[in-house]
Amino acid sequence: MVSNLNPRVREVYARLWRYVLPHKLIGLIAVVAMATTAVVELSMVALVKPLMDDTLVAHNLDTARWIPFAFVAVFVCRGVAGVATEWSLGWIGRKVISDLRRDVFRKFLTLPSRFIETHSTGPMLSRMTYNVEMVAESVTTVVTVMVRDLLTVIAAIGLMLYQSERLFLFVAVLLPIIALLILLLGKAFRRYSGHIQDTVGEVAQVTDEVLTGNRVVKIFGGYDYEMERLIEVDDSNRKQNLKLIRSRAMGVAMTQIIFGVGVAGVVYAAGIESLNGNLSPGTFMSFFGAMMLMLQPLRRITNINAVLQRGIAAGDSLFGIIDEPDEVNSGTHSPESIRGDVEFRYVCFGYNDDDSTVLKDVSLNIAAGRTIAIVGHSGSGKTTLASLLPRFYDADAGEILLDGRPVQDYELSNLRSHISFVSQDIVLFNDSIENNLAYGQLRHCSRSQILQAAEAAHIIDFVKDMPNGFETNVGDRGVLLSGGQRQRIAIGRALLKNAPVLILDEATSSLDTKSERRIQEALEQLMADRTTLVIAHRLSTVENADQIIVLDQGSIIESGTHKELLETKGHYEALYKMQFSNESTPG
Ligand SMILES: Nc1ncnc2c1ncn2[C@@H]1O[C@H](COP(=O)(O)OP(=O)(O)OP(=O)(O)O)[C@@H](O)[C@H]1O
Ligand SMILES: [Mg+2]
Repeated sequence: MVSNLNPRVREVYARLWRYVLPHKLIGLIAVVAMATTAVVELSMVALVKPLMDDTLVAHNLDTARWIPFAFVAVFVCRGVAGVATEWSLGWIGRKVISDLRRDVFRKFLTLPSRFIETHSTGPMLSRMTYNVEMVAESVTTVVTVMVRDLLTVIAAIGLMLYQSERLFLFVAVLLPIIALLILLLGKAFRRYSGHIQDTVGEVAQVTDEVLTGNRVVKIFGGYDYEMERLIEVDDSNRKQNLKLIRSRAMGVAMTQIIFGVGVAGVVYAAGIESLNGNLSPGTFMSFFGAMMLMLQPLRRITNINAVLQRGIAAGDSLFGIIDEPDEVNSGTHSPESIRGDVEFRYVCFGYNDDDSTVLKDVSLNIAAGRTIAIVGHSGSGKTTLASLLPRFYDADAGEILLDGRPVQDYELSNLRSHISFVSQDIVLFNDSIENNLAYGQLRHCSRSQILQAAEAAHIIDFVKDMPNGFETNVGDRGVLLSGGQRQRIAIGRALLKNAPVLILDEATSSLDTKSERRIQEALEQLMADRTTLVIAHRLSTVENADQIIVLDQGSIIESGTHKELLETKGHYEALYKMQFSNESTPG
């Protein structure tokens, strides 16, 4: 069955095996148990001959005495072997699921940001749930069928040959026809399975969006639209499944019809043989029993291609993810601590290769401990600029230096350990306030450090009114908190990290003026002795920066201190005047 597979499929198949092979001992138990089942089933059929010929026809008492015990023994063996098969294959199947799931998850943790941004979440999620299950089911079913059913078929053939070679000729003609049928069906199965898993991913995508965007759906009346989207992907899923079911059922029916023709041939030949006195009733019954015993295994063998192809289609997309390159992490420089000199030299960057560049020849220099502010219109590239420093993306041209060394020289997690970050879109995890504050490597912070950061970020102000205090759960992405509360937790987290380089991207944009002013004081204390990159639309928050740069369409168009820029009477002054007049307008 494997020989006709194309190289890609064979590779997936071989890799799936690598997940099974380490479990040799359990595998051995499974094989022994399945072989026992095959032999036991055949013994049952073999027992029919002495039962008929010796007991019922020749009235042999000895045989009549032992045959009932033999049947009991056979059923006990069958039960024990059945339990052993189920357990061992189940064990291997669950282990394969865990291993694959962990490998995929590990990959999700290290994939480049750009890959994650350009791929939908739904299919990623369904890989973790649907695909791994499909692979495991496929592996265990294939193993069962290939071992137990194939052995049963072989043993049945052996028994038939032993009972009557002539009758067996009728069966022998059929086997190649059935084999051909199995091969032909395989291709269709794989195609449908690939389509099915795509649609499972789409269903997950639509569902995820409806749940996260439920307020938008409600207020903008997206009910019908979303329902239609779901019906579309769900219908396509149902149709693909039906196609698979149809070809599987057809395959099984055709095998059985072919088999039926064989049965007719055997019965016809048996009549002639028996007339000639060459066939006892016991031999015929035993032969016929062996033939019937082949029916179920053959049926499963016809089906096995559907299961195998589903596993291969699922495995293919899992390995597709596992093979994606990680973030480039070839740097080895891992200093304990850094001073915090940051320099951008002629940095160019675009999100897509064919994109007009988002940053053009940006050069700036921040001496350790200094604060630089970046201002500019929405979409001018401020966030992009900041995200190059922790290497969420790598610059297309130019260099970014930390303490005089290109950021690529640093080991990636070491580089990031020196940088604290409050991003524009706050991300909180579905966990307690405390665990969101002391997240990741901050887990080891002491209680007093956590309290100190919470105090500075004015988190205590709202936590003290909550019944569960720091243990309060913030909900998915922090939905149970207000925007300002979320932002304060993000600031607290950044303060707690206490890294020499600090990036604040609209860190106080959701706060009211009073809270902003108070947090600003805390931040300014913090900024005093570390390198800080502040991005803000509200210019009042950046007035005290050592240097302010104005970004426009990815280029620096002005730079200087607040005072200098006002004197220049350029873009900054215009922006400032506009905000000043807005703020002084009553209301
Ligand atoms: N992940 C991304 N993939 C592709 N393009 C992006 C991505 N993020 C931003 N862009 C594009 O890059 C440009 C600069 O975006 P950026 O987020 O840096 O602007 P910004 O100055 O931070 O704006 P704002 O003040 O609104 O936050 C925009 O044109 C935007 O469409
Ligand atoms: Mg931004």
